[in-house]
Amino acid sequence: MAESMLGLKRSHRCTELGAANIGEQVTVMGWVQKSRNKGGIIFVDLRDRSGLLQIIFEENDCGAESFAKAEKLRSEFVIAVTGRVEARSGAVNENLITGAIEVRAESLRILSESETPPFPIEENSKTKEELRLKYRFLDLRRPDIQRNLILRSKIAVLTRQFLAEEGFLEIETPTLIKSTPEGARDYLVPSRVHPGSFYALPQSPQLFKQLLMCSGYDRYFQLARCYRDEDLRADRQPEFTQIDMEMSFVDVDDVIDVNERLLHKLFKELLNVEIPMPIPRMTWKEAMDRYGSDKPDTRFGMELKDVSDVVKGCEFAVFKGALENGGSVRGINAEGQGNMPRKKIDALVAFAKDYGAKGLAYVAIQEDGSYKSSFAKFMTDEEMAALAAAMDGKPGDLLLFAADKNQVVWAVLGALRLELARQQDLLKKDDFKFLWVTEFPLLEYSEEQDRFVAMHHPFTMPMDEDWHLIDSDPGAVRAKAYDIVLNGTELGGGSVRIHQSDIQSKMFEVLGFTPEKAEEQFGFLLEAFKYGVPPHAGLAYGLDRVAMLMGGCDSIREVIAFPKVKDASCLMTEAPTPVDPKQLDELGIEVSETPVEEN
Ligand code: AMO
Ligand code: AMP
Repeated sequence: MAESMLGLKRSHRCTELGAANIGEQVTVMGWVQKSRNKGGIIFVDLRDRSGLLQIIFEENDCGAESFAKAEKLRSEFVIAVTGRVEARSGAVNENLITGAIEVRAESLRILSESETPPFPIEENSKTKEELRLKYRFLDLRRPDIQRNLILRSKIAVLTRQFLAEEGFLEIETPTLIKSTPEGARDYLVPSRVHPGSFYALPQSPQLFKQLLMCSGYDRYFQLARCYRDEDLRADRQPEFTQIDMEMSFVDVDDVIDVNERLLHKLFKELLNVEIPMPIPRMTWKEAMDRYGSDKPDTRFGMELKDVSDVVKGCEFAVFKGALENGGSVRGINAEGQGNMPRKKIDALVAFAKDYGAKGLAYVAIQEDGSYKSSFAKFMTDEEMAALAAAMDGKPGDLLLFAADKNQVVWAVLGALRLELARQQDLLKKDDFKFLWVTEFPLLEYSEEQDRFVAMHHPFTMPMDEDWHLIDSDPGAVRAKAYDIVLNGTELGGGSVRIHQSDIQSKMFEVLGFTPEKAEEQFGFLLEAFKYGVPPHAGLAYGLDRVAMLMGGCDSIREVIAFPKVKDASCLMTEAPTPVDPKQLDELGIEVSETPVEEN
């Protein structure tokens, strides 16, 4: 039986009530978290999005009819209670915001009943994520998820406020567009009116925001939905939200300045965390050399050391071979881990192999100064001593080395360093270490495509002092590109854009675009650039990632109301689904029986 709320008006959310309200008559509405019948007296924990409030029913106060209804209450029933606030009759509950009070019910209405939910609605749920996502509408009732979404909302509101005050205009750009070259696969939308033609969903508003600069809007921002058909991970969803911005007549420092102040405000106002200003900057090269990553986690040390020079004369074939092939030998010092059992070291070797290593050479320095090592037998005592010294190795330390091409060595040791930090519990979620990574390479060589591809996108400005190398040594040209990194996660990235047509043409040439192909893909942008284009630059954050890290979550799924799972499906709605053949007919689409093979 569901009653109406006719004549009733909610006066407070649960946790808006406190000692100051004692004696007042109030009306609260929400879900039954728990109901305990102690015979003659019934305690109900009422829940709304603000938190919990204890309601107490006794027949003398609420009358026989309401008391009979209260006896039927079960978890997740939706109720309205009118009653009087009083000091708790029992012990004060320190864990509850409303722990010092309760509401003595004078009347009860059951607004709707509930079946027994498939899992309990509670904080820190032990329920498997698949089940939670299938019943996401119930999962979203849990206090931790509610806190996350409330935090996310506050981030969005504060960001809007801040950027508006800084003179940014919020402008929407289309989501049915021509495909933009951001590197991931596009989601395509077939056109009914133009059979055989497709829109792409935007991977980002990149080209439109650049056009807005051409149109003189000067400072733009948008909380933009973006779509990328790529492999999903804990920090990646097929659709996600960017805090996207672009500015005219600026250089790197201007973009960084506005964004440091934005981040400072968000962390101060929402977490009461004071980010030390300015945020440190590190070039891409330094980040790779010291951390083996372009998004280093700087909450702990364990930095990489290049020992190529130290081992260059030694006879150990693995080191020798790597150096002869133009690679390097680098190591990390896991301080105090020298007594790691062999089995655990073997697991680290296997871990390294997952990241492309052919092996992992190690030295455990014993308390007596001797070595337990997988390769000491190939080295002289002097060479071992020099190697240990180069790594600042002390008795009790574990030194780990990778020898290979630089890319492999960086990837392996970068990942290993994080794995060791995880094992030693060095990664505190409330320790926020920001870093700008700057001067990214403009281009990276793609073995797969056998040519250079843009590391960021084709509109990224090269650094003036490197541009002359574009023909002789394209890989050495650095870009005016920057990423903002927090605790080893790339929160956002951006660049200064090319606004000179000669540089842009050269870029297209280097990237293997013929003038015709460039015209076909980006004709509208190139055309716009003919009519007066201001120097401009911008940046975009992943809002989901910002919320994930601020909320101390392990996955962006925890800060997205209705996320998708690894295979890009929605467990609740079961999207994607086959569609009515009639819909396909209208679109002129025929589905082949056998799925196209992945190449
Ligand atoms: P970029 O591709 O680096 O740059 O994206 C910017 C930020 O968006 C977030 N992000 C994602 N978040 C969740 N799921 C995903 N699949 C995903 N992909 C990216 C990341 C990333 O740092 N147009 C440029 C920005 C610019 O140059 O102004 C761009 O999109 O946090
Ligand atoms: P091997 O002579 O192949 O048995 O290797 C001796 C030691 O070197 C073993 O501990 C291997 O795991 C390690 N090793 C092999 N290849 C590499 C590599 N590319 N980098 C670092 N260590 C390696």
